[in-house]
Amino acid sequence: MRRVLVTGGAGYIGSHTCLELLNAGFEITVVDNLSNSTEESLQRVSTLTGKEIAFVEVDLQDVRGLDTVFSKGDFETVIHFAALKAVGESVSQPLQYYQNNVTGTINLCQAMQSHGVTDLVFSSSATVYGLPKILPLTEQSETLIHEVTNPYGRTKLMVEFVLKDWQRACPEMNIALLRYFNPVGAHVSGQIGEDPSGLPNNLLPYVSQVAVGKLEKLGVFGDDYETSDGTGVRDYIHVVDLAVGHVLAVKKLSEKPGVVTYNLGTGIGYSVFQIIAAFEEASGRKIPFEILPRRTGDIAACYADPSLAKLELGWTANRGIQEMCVDGWRWQSNNPNGYAS
Ligand code: NAD
Ligand code: UD1
Repeated sequence: MRRVLVTGGAGYIGSHTCLELLNAGFEITVVDNLSNSTEESLQRVSTLTGKEIAFVEVDLQDVRGLDTVFSKGDFETVIHFAALKAVGESVSQPLQYYQNNVTGTINLCQAMQSHGVTDLVFSSSATVYGLPKILPLTEQSETLIHEVTNPYGRTKLMVEFVLKDWQRACPEMNIALLRYFNPVGAHVSGQIGEDPSGLPNNLLPYVSQVAVGKLEKLGVFGDDYETSDGTGVRDYIHVVDLAVGHVLAVKKLSEKPGVVTYNLGTGIGYSVFQIIAAFEEASGRKIPFEILPRRTGDIAACYADPSLAKLELGWTANRGIQEMCVDGWRWQSNNPNGYAS
């Protein structure tokens, strides 16, 4: 059985991935500084799976603390979710973002190196493609650092370069760079899900908080894009499909492939208006909205060509937009205040 260390495992995507890893028979240890999560998510994952999760509250800036975790763990693989991810905050606090996301990753890599751990799965993002020139985006599409629209996105692309350089110098390393499109929804149980602190930045959490009555109305950022209805188009992916992609990536690394890069998306783009309609149907609630100016840094459309992940991982996203909204709504309506409910 493989032992996996999951950084940032108490967060949104991490908690769903922990659940899939446990169900697939992996043994896991989670490190998280709980800066954007609570341990409650992991307790719920344990209850849902009937399996234990070893949890250590450690910050990736804490080099000694990390070393202790590795000394005790004997891990074969690391899945690295831990990062700060609020785009607007990354613009006002870039140093905090580079320190946390880039230096934190380097600390993690150094701990892996000193303890002889060779397999790493990294949470990258479609944001590394910047302004897409041709859609759908393939893994070969250009990633130019000056075209990435914000510091958060640049931390992701910088880490991709760090990891590729590391693997070039240490060919025994096996690294999967997973470029997520727009993760949404929740586990079918309604027990775990996305729990943003403060006002949500992303569309689906905002829409679900309007549906549950916590927010009055949605602001639609622009209806004059060159898309079918003028609103922004994105490739929304069910978080459970994304989590399953991580389990398959961990298995792939045992084939010792060096560096592999995969888009994890559905290949289908939905507009903001289509999302509003789908969520209204799923929740049975009206979503009032108003049209606002475009959001700085936003692009018109972005969706994946996910065929490489299908070919090499045997992975496809099975859950459609209705299931994303129904599962997201179940989580939101069962837990109107997230884990604090
Ligand atoms: P999240 O904030 O829910 O989870 C991240 C977790 O990392 C949190 O539990 C947080 O407490 C922890 N963390 C942050 N900095 C840490 C540090 N220095 N030391 C230890 N723990 C730390 O976010 P998420 O949505 O689950 O995202 C997971 C990963 O996926 C992130 O790397 C994010 O950038 C990436 N990603 C997310 C999205 C998205 O839309 N959610 C899209 C693309 C990529
Ligand atoms: C955002 C981030 C991106 C990150 C991604 C993760 C920005 C500029 N980009 O991208 O770096 O990788 O999340 O999922 O923040 N929308 C509204 N009203 C809202 C919120 C969003 O109309 O209140 C629209 C947006 O204009 C966009 C679509 O909904 O067209 C999706 O927005 P969002 O969920 O924030 O995702 P991204 O823009 O893809």
